[in-house]
Amino acid sequence: MNILITGSAGFIGFHISKLFLKKGHTVYGIDNLNHYYDVRLKRARNKILLQQKRYKFSKININSTKKVSSLFKKNNFDLVIHLAAQAGVRYSLKNPKVYIDSNIKGFFNIINSLKENNIKNFIYASSSSIYGNSNRSVFKEDEKATSPIQLYAATKRSNELIAHAYSSIYKINTIGLRFFTVYGPWGRPDMSLFLFTKKILKNKRIDVFNYGKHSRDFTFIDDIVHGIYLCAMKGFSKKKKKYFEIFNIASGKPIKLTKFIEIIEKKLKLRANKNFLKLQKGDVIKTYGSIKKINSEFGYKPKTSINKGVSKFIDWYKKFYRIGGLR
Ligand SMILES: NC(=O)c1ccc[n+]([C@@H]2O[C@H](COP(=O)([O-])OP(=O)(O)OC[C@H]3O[C@@H](n4cnc5c(N)ncnc54)[C@H](O)[C@@H]3O)[C@@H](O)[C@H]2O)c1
Repeated sequence: MNILITGSAGFIGFHISKLFLKKGHTVYGIDNLNHYYDVRLKRARNKILLQQKRYKFSKININSTKKVSSLFKKNNFDLVIHLAAQAGVRYSLKNPKVYIDSNIKGFFNIINSLKENNIKNFIYASSSSIYGNSNRSVFKEDEKATSPIQLYAATKRSNELIAHAYSSIYKINTIGLRFFTVYGPWGRPDMSLFLFTKKILKNKRIDVFNYGKHSRDFTFIDDIVHGIYLCAMKGFSKKKKKYFEIFNIASGKPIKLTKFIEIIEKKLKLRANKNFLKLQKGDVIKTYGSIKKINSEFGYKPKTSINKGVSKFIDWYKKFYRIGGLR
């Protein structure tokens, strides 16, 4: 297959590109390599992908209608996996405009190009944040999800609604994936595991919001990538009648933030100096994803325990920052 992967220099984009290349597919990666976090990490991921001949990369901003349109005209894609977005819940309070530019306009440019070029198969990243402060104990895909509590979640829910419209009118097969707190090697520097590891190693205080009472359904990157791969391989079979699908990809095993910190401390063999703080605006209190739907449709089963996953991240972190000297 010829696959377009947007955000290919990002955390999830890098891992899924690697997997598709390993399976023999051709990957067209695009990314604008923006400075939301250390761009050297994005470049280092991209450099690894560029070692493969079947990886073709262009630096493109998806909010340029002209550039996106010309990319689609020049190439024939069998499948588009759209991951490029302004991620991060907290940053959407600081810089809301970029969420509209990348997540709304950018998303429109991509899905509209599928329509213009008669491409039928589309997978895109949504997020567990669309559930807001749901009062259900386990989050299921059939929830109405009409109460996002920050702009990031609102843009991701909007993507799902736009996808629904395009599926209905133009018969584009769309699969929206609601990822639950993804972590692992090559992870994002703005996320808790990265921040905590970095600070604990430097003996700096870590900020623990909501006094550590949050709970999160942390999902290891290999399990996320496995879920995306299953959707790509099984989600577009001719027998399927539904054009619009949504799946959670989670571990289904939420843990408290305090417990998460203990696991990091144990692996690092260091005690964290904790700065307990009140709940931050826009933060959801807990996430817990039901994985029944993706399990019964495609046989998805997460494999990596939180202990193993944290350990793999810390091993990568120590190796990468020693060898790369990027710290
Ligand atoms: N990591 C998670 O826990 C998580 C959870 C839920 C949803 N998601 C979603 O999954 C997707 C991938 O997330 P990630 O963790 O890999 O984030 P990431 O920030 O590492 O990757 C996103 C990539 O997209 C690129 N990008 C951003 N705006 C762009 C634009 N306008 N044009 C071109 N490229 C642009 C960035 O440079 C980056 O490399 C995102 O859509 C994110 O919202 C992630």
